[in-house]
Parts: sequence; structure tokens; C-alpha cells
Amino acid sequence: MLSSVSFRNVTKVTTHVLQEMKLKGEKIAMLTAYDYSFARILDNTGIDIILVGDSASNVMAGHSSTLPITLNEMIYHGSSVVRAVKRALVVVDLPFGTYQGNSKEALNSAIRIMKECGADAVKLEGGKEILESVDRILSAGIPVMGHLGLTPQSIHKFGTYVVRATSEEEATKLVEDAHLLEKAGCFAIVLEKIPAKLGGLVTQQLKIPLIGIGAGREVDGQVLVLHDMLGITLEFSPRFLRRYHNLSEEIRGSVNTYINDVKTLDFPNEKEQY
Ligand code: KIV
Repeated sequence: MLSSVSFRNVTKVTTHVLQEMKLKGEKIAMLTAYDYSFARILDNTGIDIILVGDSASNVMAGHSSTLPITLNEMIYHGSSVVRAVKRALVVVDLPFGTYQGNSKEALNSAIRIMKECGADAVKLEGGKEILESVDRILSAGIPVMGHLGLTPQSIHKFGTYVVRATSEEEATKLVEDAHLLEKAGCFAIVLEKIPAKLGGLVTQQLKIPLIGIGAGREVDGQVLVLHDMLGITLEFSPRFLRRYHNLSEEIRGSVNTYINDVKTLDFPNEKEQY
């Protein structure tokens, strides 16, 4: 029985395990990964969910938004991650333009992600506007994670990355959207950059797990972009981001030492050659 084991000991995190974690009040930890090497390190830590986010568009490809990344590129990143992961639940983002406004295309995109990556689930941004796509994907037996609040694929509509749902009207819509996604059958929802109080309210009202990024601590779990929390990317510093490392500084230091070793003939030494 799931409920009698510690979740840290499960051999594979499933959507059912996440549901049990919510019921037991055990917080869910989620991070992004876009490649095999990082995904392998993450999976060995016991992280619950690995998100192959379309933030790969910024982090891996250097675009200024998530809009340019293609389905083929997401499949490349997703399949690299899946090859490394045994335990964590792997969720892959459906990129901009592959599901909005056309549920048949949404289903085809989700099927490609599941077949060609071997992912466990897909994530879509939006509420009522994308409900038909969510329904159709779910009807094919594909688990769906929702994403509400700041939805970076709609940045040109919002015009800014400021905190969302601060007005009563937007907060009410977010709560309604969350209920719609739960009713449709989503197994979890990401809440991005909204007031902590609202994050707590939605979490109390819904049975499925709510994973926050800048949504306060009253949610069921947290997600961060790996490259941001490790200090590889330094340009991005929202209040919700806790940096656990300054990896770019460490990499710079190691590379400078290497350059010096090469130039001074310190590397390779006797033991490092044949
Ligand atoms: O693409 C991404 O990394 C995301 C997270 C910010 C939740 O959607």
C-alpha cells in the first residue's frame, strides 16, 4: 500500500504518489532539466518531479522568451532527460503554438511528446481558453499538469513579467480556472508568481497538488529553474528565486585554472599522458 511507505523510498514517482503526498502533507520538490547529464544528477537526489520546461528556450537557446522553442526541440530535450531518469516523474512542456486554439493539434503534439520522449506527462499553460485541448489530451490517457498565474507563453498579452492576479477580477478567474482544470482531470497545477495568500487559498480548495514558483509557502510543493537556483544564469533575479550556488563563478574559476595550466605546460603532466 502506497500510504504505508515513505515517499522517499518509492522506485517511481507517479501521479498517484503525488496525490498521496498532498493528502499526507508531504511537500513536493520539482526542478527543471533539459539534458541527460543534469537529469541524471537530479534523479539521484530523490527529486520528485523533473520538468523539461520550455524555459529551455531562454536557458539553453538564449532566446528572450519561451515562444520560439519548437516541438521538435522540446522532444530533443525531453528524450535526453527521460534517458537519464528512473525515479522522478518527468513532465514535458507543450511549447507555444502547439496546443492553443486547436484541440486536434494539441492531442497530436501531446502524443508526439509521449511517444518520442517517453515522458510521463505534459504541461500546458492556461485555463478556460485551453480546456478543450486539455480534455482531448486527457481523453487519450495522457496525464496533464496545468499552469496558471504568470504564463510566460502569453507574455505579449500581459506585456510584463510582474506578479499576476493581484486584482480581484484576475484572482477570481485564476480560482475558477484552477477548479476547471481539476474537474477536467489534471493531476497537478503550477502556480507562477501570484500573491502567497491566493496560492494558499487555491491549495486549500483543490484536491490535486498545487506546485508554486513565486506563489508562497502554503502550496503543496515548489519548482525552480535549475540553472537559476544553481547560479548558472545570473541575469534573472526575481524575489522568489533562492540561489543555492554560484556555479558560474566556480566554472569561471576552474576554466581560468585550466587555461593557465595549458599555457604554462603544467597540463598534461607525466601521469596524464600515454
Ligand atoms: O518552463 C518552465 O521552466 C516552467 C517553470 C517556470 C514552471 O514552466
